Amino acid sequence: MATLDILGINKSFGAVKVLHDVTIQMADGEFLVLVGPSGCGKSTLMNIIAGLEEPTGGALHLDKQDITRLAPADRNISMVFQSYALYPNMSVAKNIEFPLAMRKVPKAQRAERVRSVAALLQIEHLLDRKPRALSGGQRQRVAIGRALAREPKLYLFDEPLSNLDAQLRLDMRTELKKLHQRLRATIVYVTHDQIEAMTLASRIAVMKGGVIQQLGTPYEVYNKPANTFVAGFMGSPRMNLVKATAARADAGWQLILRGADGRSETIDVPHATVDLSGYIGQEVLMGLRAEAICLARDPNGQSPLRRLVRARVVVIEPTGSDTLALLQIGGHEFTARLEPDVQLHVGMETDVYLDLSKLVCFDAKSEARIGA
Ligand SMILES: Nc1ncnc2c1ncn2[C@@H]1O[C@H](COP(=O)(O)OP(=O)(O)OP(=O)(O)O)[C@@H](O)[C@H]1O
Ligand SMILES: [Mg+2]
Repeated sequence: MATLDILGINKSFGAVKVLHDVTIQMADGEFLVLVGPSGCGKSTLMNIIAGLEEPTGGALHLDKQDITRLAPADRNISMVFQSYALYPNMSVAKNIEFPLAMRKVPKAQRAERVRSVAALLQIEHLLDRKPRALSGGQRQRVAIGRALAREPKLYLFDEPLSNLDAQLRLDMRTELKKLHQRLRATIVYVTHDQIEAMTLASRIAVMKGGVIQQLGTPYEVYNKPANTFVAGFMGSPRMNLVKATAARADAGWQLILRGADGRSETIDVPHATVDLSGYIGQEVLMGLRAEAICLARDPNGQSPLRRLVRARVVVIEPTGSDTLALLQIGGHEFTARLEPDVQLHVGMETDVYLDLSKLVCFDAKSEARIGA
C-alpha cells in the first residue's frame, strides 16, 4: 500500500497532445476512479503509471519515491487490463502463481496465496483448467486473481469488468468493494459505468480531452459538478440543464424560464442556495437532477426550498424501479424521476415540486458552476 502522486503529467503522440498537465495526489488506501468519454486519455494515463508508456513531461511518485523512469517490473504495481492476457499454456493456478514465482516467493507461501485468492474470487473449482476452457467472465476473474496474488503497492484496473454479464458484473463490483475495504489497497480504476464509479470511488476524476474537469468525492461530483460537462456526464438520466434569466427579488433571486411557445415560469430562489448577484438580467443555465422534481401531492406542504410549478406530461418511461417522466415546465423540458406506480398520462397537466436544495447554476458562457 502506498501514496501515489501524479504530478503534471503530459503526453503527446507525435503532434497530438492527449494528456494536459494531469495532477492527482492519492492518499494511501484511496480508490480513485477515472471516468470520461472514449478517447479522453484514461488508458494512456494508466499505461504511464504502469510504465508501459513514457510521459512527455511530469513525474510520478509512488510512496514518495520517484518512479518516472523505472522499468514496469521495478514499480511494484499490478495492472488488470480490459483485454486480460492469460498464459494459454498454464493452468489457472499457475497463471495466478506466476508473478509470485517470478519474484521468488517461497513455494508454500505461493500455494497459500493462490488458494486464498481463488477462494475470494470463487474460482477454486477452475484451478486445474487452462484459460481456453474458461468463459470470458471466468478468465477476467483469473486476471484479477493474478493481480491480487502479488500484494503490490498499487493496483491499476482498466475496465476490468467490461466483459462480464450484468449479474456477474454486479457481484464483482460488490466483491471489489469488499476487497478494498479489507485490504485498504491504493487503487486506480477506469470504468465507463456510472454506478461503478459512484459506488467504488473514494474520489472520481472526470476527464475530457486529456484535461481533468473535476477531481472530487462521488458526492461532490454528483451534487456540485464543476461545469456543465461534468453535470451532463455523471448521472443517468442526465442533469436537466435549462436556460433561465436571473433577476433580483425581495429575499433572494428569481430564475425566469421562457419557452419558444410563449410559456413562462418564475422560480423564487433563496439567497443561500446560489449567489446570482453577478448575473442579474443575464442568462444562466439552471441545473436540476431528475430526482429533485416530484409530484405535488400536498400543495400546502411547501417547504422553504420547494417550489410549486405547473408541468405538462410529454413522455412517460417506466423503468421498473421508478418512472421517468419528460415534463414541460415554463416552455422547457425536464426529466423527472417519479415513483414506479405513478398515475400519469401524456398530455395531462399537473403540479410538481422543484427541490431547490439540489439546484445548481452555471455561467452560460464559461459553463462553470456559479458559487462555492
Ligand atoms: N500509441 C498511440 N499512438 C497514437 N495515438 C494514441 C496511441 N495510444 C492512444 N492514442 C490516442 O490517444 C487518445 C487517448 O487514448 P486512450 O486509449 O487513452 O483513451 P481512453 O480514454 O482510454 O478511451 P476508451 O474509453 O475508449 O478506452 C486517443 O485519441 C487515442 O487515439
Ligand atoms: Mg481505454
